[in-house]
Amino acid sequence: MVLLTGSNKIKTAVFISGKGSNLKSLIKFSKKNNSPISIDLIICDNLNAKGLNFGNTFKIKKKVFNFKNKAKAENKILFELKSKNINLICLAGFMKILSKNFIKKFKGKILNIHPSLLPKYKGLNTHQRVLENNEKYSGCTVHYVSYKLDSGEIILQKKVKIKRKETPKSLAKKILVQEHKLYPKAILKVFRL
Ligand code: GAR
Repeated sequence: MVLLTGSNKIKTAVFISGKGSNLKSLIKFSKKNNSPISIDLIICDNLNAKGLNFGNTFKIKKKVFNFKNKAKAENKILFELKSKNINLICLAGFMKILSKNFIKKFKGKILNIHPSLLPKYKGLNTHQRVLENNEKYSGCTVHYVSYKLDSGEIILQKKVKIKRKETPKSLAKKILVQEHKLYPKAILKVFRL
């Protein structure tokens, strides 16, 4: 097994907008010996995001940016990423769409998790649309971020079965449990570990 410790780990920023349960699972994963990443920065677009508390709990620097002026926010974020030598970005429930200019600067180094079996159900209100279409399965996907929304190369997916009385809420909960396992696995796959 490859052991990556302290400064050998790939400096990673996690972008969040809300609860941050994926952030928490990534932080826990980053502390394991077999993890290739360390989480050095949390980026957020929402001052009230609950997930920001994980920055305090785990002593990770967090920064909130106002996306009303997206270009300005992105430039500030790029500066922050550069000054912290960040080499990987994990989007984890980050609900803003990054510009082509931003993505270009980190091409091939931005990952995202989406709560559906992409390429099906890109975008918002995934679970509701899945149930309206009487799908038998849904799931989650970790993929590279490309210029087109939820369309980059797929790294890993996990399928879940939809029960008869499933609601968007119960489905979201069930998929989230799988997301917490899938994101670390996808990172290991990216680094061929
Ligand atoms: C997760 O289900 C994630 O897949 C989804 O938001 C949730 C965030 O939960 N992301 C998207 O819908 C992105 N389009 P978390 O804040 O508890 O990690």
